[in-house]
Amino acid sequence: MPARVVGEIQSFADLSILPGESAPERVLENCNGFDALICTLMNKVTADFIDRLPPSIRLVATYSVGIDHIDLRALQARRIALVNTPDVLTEATADIAWLLLLGAARRASEAEALLRSGMWTGWEPNQLVGTDIHGSTLGILGFGRIGRAVARRAAGFGMNILTSVRSSSAGDPPPPGTIICSSMEEVLAGSDFLSLHLPLTEETQNWLNAERIASMKSGAIVINTARGGLIDETALIAALQSGKLGGAGLDVFVGEPDIRRDLVEAPNTFLLPHLGSATRRAREGMGLSLARDIAAFFAGRPVENGVGV
Ligand code: DGY
Repeated sequence: MPARVVGEIQSFADLSILPGESAPERVLENCNGFDALICTLMNKVTADFIDRLPPSIRLVATYSVGIDHIDLRALQARRIALVNTPDVLTEATADIAWLLLLGAARRASEAEALLRSGMWTGWEPNQLVGTDIHGSTLGILGFGRIGRAVARRAAGFGMNILTSVRSSSAGDPPPPGTIICSSMEEVLAGSDFLSLHLPLTEETQNWLNAERIASMKSGAIVINTARGGLIDETALIAALQSGKLGGAGLDVFVGEPDIRRDLVEAPNTFLLPHLGSATRRAREGMGLSLARDIAAFFAGRPVENGVGV
């Protein structure tokens, strides 16, 4: 946790910090007598884990905007409140979506590997030719805060933007020229690039499957900064291998940090280790937002980012 966040929490509470990857048993042993538990997306807060939390725990604060690692129903059944960290990571995550889009379109991984190998023999017309960004169409699925921030950047790159949602609680209107399609399938069929910003739920699990990939334009590029589980990775790998998809830029994976070997080896990919929110301002902002909400909750004031409470 950033030092400023540790200091902030310690200004009003006793804080005990375990390594992020601690086994559930170790976490459970250590939270006896504590009022709140701060977790990350690496901690699976399952129904069984929640059942075994000591009665003293009244609040779970997740160092993430995503809450798919938490069994919301089980928390509610135990009357444990939940807070998360929206907003503060929006711009950082949209930047990473753009890094992936640019990297996958312009074959950045291959290009860098060539240069570092010492095998580059100089400029030539057919070398590492990529996909044009300017003038192409970006489909954005999930038009909340991050989807909209990606769309704002796309306007600056001269892209056409497709989405399927007109309004959202996230605020700012879509950039001028955004085309609102009547379904997510219509977005899929019209996109040269597709960027996923949906929450991972039972309904969206494996949403981008073989059938939906087949309905995409040949050579389209898929970008995912949301959750690995939105994509059926077997179908994605097959589509990259056959050339149906022109590439993929991925920051999130099923079962991360254990990533399928055949995905790492698939052609035309630009892969990052879940770095969406990894800037100083965003990571500190996430922690300070949790600190504010923990303090508010125990002082009996309304929290800013309560989920289902
Ligand atoms: C989140 O917050 O859900 C991101 O995936 C990690 O920053």
